[in-house]
Amino acid sequence: MKTIKGMKFETLISEKDIATRVKEMVKEIAEDSHGKEIFIIGILKGSFVFLSDLLRLLFIHKIHPSLDFITVESYGSGKVSSGNLKLLRDITTDIENKWVLIVDDILDTGKTLAFAKEYFKEKKPASIKSCVFLDKPDRRVNDFKANYVGFEIPDKFVVGYGMDYDNLFRELPYVAVLLDEEEKKSK
Ligand code: PRP
Repeated sequence: MKTIKGMKFETLISEKDIATRVKEMVKEIAEDSHGKEIFIIGILKGSFVFLSDLLRLLFIHKIHPSLDFITVESYGSGKVSSGNLKLLRDITTDIENKWVLIVDDILDTGKTLAFAKEYFKEKKPASIKSCVFLDKPDRRVNDFKANYVGFEIPDKFVVGYGMDYDNLFRELPYVAVLLDEEEKKSK
């Protein structure tokens, strides 16, 4: 157990295991996208750490994608449960006929990625795939499945490797369970 800023953490996925798995994922993506015009769309903010590792490993496979980001926000009553999503930031490039890969840190209820995929389908890419570092299948409220998944995890409150608690702890190089939040759940 570790304590940072007075909060208790337990490592769930080590830095070493992340590096190994991300390398495997990139190999798969590189094989599938070989020879295609690749356009990566990152969903802010959580995806930025995973995406920067992904991008630099793609370079090793001689893959040179274009990149842009979107920000998705929930609105209406209750940030988590409303399910009404809107784009706060859109991409500024044409993706028609491109091999599009949407990248996010975590697939939870599935609402964000389902929304993003529907939205970008309209722009007529050649293909549209999704890639997530973590998947929490127990939390899904739709039938969304990502094409590339780093790790499936149980329904625990995780931070690090881009994921936050109150916009903190994104910088942890590993994934940790925030024990304080887990304790609250069990009360
Ligand atoms: C998180 C995460 C995903 C989304 C997944 O974003 O980064 O984008 O939630 O949840 P869903 O599958 O239930 O839609 P968050 O709203 O926490 O914003 P952040 O990325 O800026 O931290």
